[in-house]
Order: sequence, then C-alpha cells, then structure tokens
Amino acid sequence: MDLASLLLSQLLLLPVVTVVSGETAAHPGYAHAEEACSGMLEAEAEKATVLVPAPERREEFDGGRIVDISHYYREDMPEWESSEGSGEFLQLARSMRNGSDIANFSELRLTAHSGTHVDAPGHVFEHYYDTGFDVDTLDLAVLNGPALLVDVPRDKNITADVMASLNIPKGVRRVLFRTLNTDRKLMWKKEFDTSYVGFMKDGAQWLVDNTDIKLVGVDYLSVGAFDECIPAHLVFLEKRGWCEDPIIWSWASADPIDTNMS
Ligand SMILES: *[C@@H]1O[C@H](CO)[C@@H](O)[C@H](O)[C@H]1NC(C)=O
Ligand SMILES: *[C@@H]1O[C@H](CO)[C@@H](O)[C@H](O)[C@H]1NC(C)=O
Ligand SMILES: *[C@@H]1O[C@H](CO)[C@@H](O)[C@H](O)[C@H]1NC(C)=O
Repeated sequence: MDLASLLLSQLLLLPVVTVVSGETAAHPGYAHAEEACSGMLEAEAEKATVLVPAPERREEFDGGRIVDISHYYREDMPEWESSEGSGEFLQLARSMRNGSDIANFSELRLTAHSGTHVDAPGHVFEHYYDTGFDVDTLDLAVLNGPALLVDVPRDKNITADVMASLNIPKGVRRVLFRTLNTDRKLMWKKEFDTSYVGFMKDGAQWLVDNTDIKLVGVDYLSVGAFDECIPAHLVFLEKRGWCEDPIIWSWASADPIDTNMS
C-alpha cells in the first residue's frame, strides 16, 4: 500500500443526492471550523508581519453539488487495533524558518487504512496483491458521483435480513451506510473499538447478489464487522480482477451529513 491510497482517499468527493431519514444538523465536520473562519487569534496576529486570514475549511463546493465527507486527519484519530490513535503522523521535515530552505516540506507517516480510505483488492487476496491490484486499479467513475445515504437499524450489524429490509432500489450504484458508529462518534475516539457496526458475511453476500451497488461506504475503519471482518471483505473483493465487485470504502466519518440536500 502506498501514498496513492492516501491521496485517493482525500479525493473522494461525493455529492449525496438522496437521504433516507437521519440527523437534522448540517455537517460541521471540522471541530475548529468556527475559530478558523474567524481568522487568526489576536496574539498570533500581533506577532505576524503579514496578516493572512485563516483558511476556510470547506466541505461543500459548487453550492452543495460536491460534498467532501472524508474525515479530518488528527493525531487522536483511531487506528486499527490500537489504543494509541494515529500519533504524530505529520512532520515538517524541512522548514522555511531555517532560512536555507525555499519551501516547507511536510512528511506523512500513516498506514493506508487510516481515516477515510478505500480498500485495495490486494488487501485480502494475495494473488491480487502479487499481481498489483492496488487502489490505483479502482474505477474513479465508481468512486465519484451521486450517492444514496442510508440509515441502518441501530441495534444490529448489517446482515442479509437488514439489507433486505432497507429496500435499496435497483440501479443505485453508490451507498453510504450510516450506522450506530456515527451516533457513538467512534471516529472521534482515539481507542479502536471492536464493537463497531459493519457488514456480516451474509449481508455482504446479499448486497452482491441482489443489488447494483458498486460502492459501499461504512462509517468506521472497516466495512466488515469485527467478528466477520475478513469473510465480509472476501465476499466484496473476490472478483476484483474482473471489476465486477463493489469498491469498499471506509467513509469513516462521524460528521453528520446535511439531510436537507436533495
Ligand atoms: C530546520 O528545520 C527542520 C524542521 O523544523 C529541523 O528538523 C532542522 O533541524 C532545522 N535545521 C536547522 C539547521 O535548524
Ligand atoms: C513554514 O513552516 C513554518 C514553521 O517552521 C511556518 O511558521 C510557516 O508559516 C511555513 N510557511 C509556509 C509558506 O507555509
Ligand atoms: C456488531 O458486531 C460486533 C462484533 O463484530 C459486536 O461487538 C457489536 O455489538 C455488534 N453491534 C450491534 C449493534 O449488534
């Protein structure tokens, strides 16, 4: 896995066109958004020689046609099977402050499964790994476009029965499954939590057999529930070599999405 997957994970811009119930709040994805929008802190402004307004962190572009729902990377973002979070993943390797450098160069050190990410077919199949099925082989046309946001029952993992009960119409290609993970704000907790909600193997099989879904998004670090994590992945990624199976995407966002968009 390489940097490409990280970059790709940040390029996932999905307009969410249809929503099946849920939160009413807008999506204030960035906890510090207000502070950032109001400009520099006074003390900092006094010290600065040139006053530059703080950047605006946007999640909506083109009047809401494009919504960036990727998760904001933080040091206390959870990592798979770790209680430590992501740690100091971003470092300024070379700094303009030194005088000798003409630019700032930052260095990223992060697993490819951090935050919002897509799984490469080679993630769970050695023959795909060996033949080079990395994230670069995924179809960008599948990764970008209108998506259906679906709320799943909060008291179950995503089983075949749950999938059948959702009545997702034929023809829908991209679905974000919003679960109890979002309610529990799991992406904002540093400690990895094995009780997150995800697909059970039979739920994954039901999706492959009965829907036209080609992009599956789940709101935590894995598409498969912890107890059936690998079996669910195997179902989803099995035919990847023929590009028939859904792309699985850990949307990993705990940010509520504005449900008034349509
Ligand atoms: C220049 O800055 C980098 C990053 O802050 C630091 O690691 C390095 O030691 C500095 N070099 C000097 C000569 O100060
Ligand atoms: C470069 O890094 C320094 C920290 O060493 C920071 O204060 C400065 O704003 C950065 N410059 C640019 C152009 O980003
Ligand atoms: C989902 O499955 C996990 C085990 O993978 C379990 O700990 C959790 O309680 C289940 N969640 C629900 C809502 O049933």
